[in-house]
Amino acid sequence: MTEPDFAASEFFPALVELLRWRRDVRRFLPDAIADEELLDLLRVAQLAPSVGLSQPWRFVRVRGEAARAAVRENFARCNAAALAGYEGEDAAVYAGLKLSGLNDAPVQLAVFCETNGEAGRGLGRRTMPEMAEYSVVAAVHTLWLAARAKGIGMGWVSILEPEGVTAALSVPEGWRLVAYLCLGRPVEVHVDPELDRAGWERRTPLEDVFLER
Ligand SMILES: Cc1cc2nc3c(=O)[nH]c(=O)nc-3n(C[C@H](O)[C@H](O)[C@H](O)COP(=O)(O)O)c2cc1C
Repeated sequence: MTEPDFAASEFFPALVELLRWRRDVRRFLPDAIADEELLDLLRVAQLAPSVGLSQPWRFVRVRGEAARAAVRENFARCNAAALAGYEGEDAAVYAGLKLSGLNDAPVQLAVFCETNGEAGRGLGRRTMPEMAEYSVVAAVHTLWLAARAKGIGMGWVSILEPEGVTAALSVPEGWRLVAYLCLGRPVEVHVDPELDRAGWERRTPLEDVFLER
């Protein structure tokens, strides 16, 4: 197979633009995403790296109203508890943040890590077993970028109590929840993170996170 010319002058700047314009999306249009489009994106996500080629990601499309309602209630409870942990100005800003698109995202995916899988035969996980979950995160990020490239927004919802979500979805034993994702066409697009725009947090300059030893 011939290697594509990734060093071509237009490819790298376009990739950087995709990365700059990827956002965590919490506001979705009701427009449906075609099944085949979603499956294509998941096939792209499967190109992610994984420890020992273990591919421990498991995607559960959450369609049932009862399961979706359980996740919404779980979020509402966890978000109220999180709000109660802040005081004063922080509490006021937190209360104004929109931290999930669970009420309107047409597609919702729970992404699990199969912790008991044989695939990869344990390679790379003996001293750092958490590498399986990190591999699932790699797939989630790959999905995030692929979706953005197709004009589909994705939001990661972690303000959840994972046992409750896992029980609501009756998945096999040994599957650990890594991510709950909302996908759909975004209401708006931005080049800067919503939490930055809301005054919650700023982006870190490289100098603050880079050391040499
Ligand atoms: C592991 C992880 C969990 C996250 N959980 C939430 C969440 O529960 N609610 C939310 O609104 N955003 C969540 N986010 C999105 C972050 O807030 C967002 O990535 C960050 O503010 C930067 O914005 P950007 O993704 O638009 O660049 C999560 C992101 C990651 C990577």
